[in-house]
Order: sequence, then structure tokens, then C-alpha cells
Amino acid sequence: KYEKIWLTFGIGCLIVFLTVVGVSAFAAGQQPPSCLTTIDPEKVDTTPPFDQPGLVKKGDNEYELNIVVAAFSFTPNAIEIPKGAKVTINVTSKDVIHGFQIPGTNVNMMVEPGYVNSLTTTFDEPGEYTILCNEYCGAGHHMMTARIKVV
Ligand code: CUA
Repeated sequence: KYEKIWLTFGIGCLIVFLTVVGVSAFAAGQQPPSCLTTIDPEKVDTTPPFDQPGLVKKGDNEYELNIVVAAFSFTPNAIEIPKGAKVTINVTSKDVIHGFQIPGTNVNMMVEPGYVNSLTTTFDEPGEYTILCNEYCGAGHHMMTARIKVV
């Protein structure tokens, strides 16, 4: 009869785990980044929208933020975003795989050469945010940061 207890315990744990994952996925708005487009990593600088990286207004309070990532920088590396803006971030890498994380938000994705990764987030809280590379990419990895100012 001990087996029965352990079996119940095991199934209970599984249910708790799945509930936590489900709740964080839907309630907290954590979405997996989507990968839509392929891009030639050698032609990033001449391929729209990355030929003119930065924030682009797309509609009422809606923006697109296009960022070129390369060892060891984000371009642009200082971005100002109006408070409450819904921003779709598009990133691509010119060289190796990098990371793109903004602590304090749901933004955390990979930056892959040859692909455009996208993720939409809303900046409701004013303040300074830091973009970090969280994928080891070489000697300058720890210096790879950029700033977002929400005003
Ligand atoms: Cu780029 Cu680590």
C-alpha cells in the first residue's frame, strides 16, 4: 500500500508542475519567441529593416524595434521607448549565436545568424532597462549590453 501513496504523490507533483507551467505561460504572458524569417548574415546591413536599425512607429502606441547583434554589441545600444508602448522586437546576428534578455520583462530570446527572431512586449513601467547577451559568444561576451529608457 506504500506504492499507492507514492503513486498518488507522484501524480500530485506532476499536476502541480503542469499547473505552474501553464499559469506562467498564459497568465504571465511568457511566450516563446517566434522565428519568422531567414536572412543572409553577411547582408544584414543592407537588408531592411536592419539597414536602418532602431525604433519605428507602426501605429497608435505600437512600435517595431529592430536590433542588429554582432560580437560584441547591439545596434542601436541606447533606445528610448514611450511608456505603455507595445513593441515588437526583431533581432538578427551578423556572426555567432547571441542572447537577448531584458531582465524585469518577458523578453529572453536567442539571436541566431541567418534568422530573424521576434517577440512582442509592452513597456508599462518607466525606467532604465538593460539588454544583456545571455549566450556565451566569445571574449567580449560580458561587455555585451545596451540600454532602454522607458519615459
Ligand atoms: Cu553575445 Cu554573449
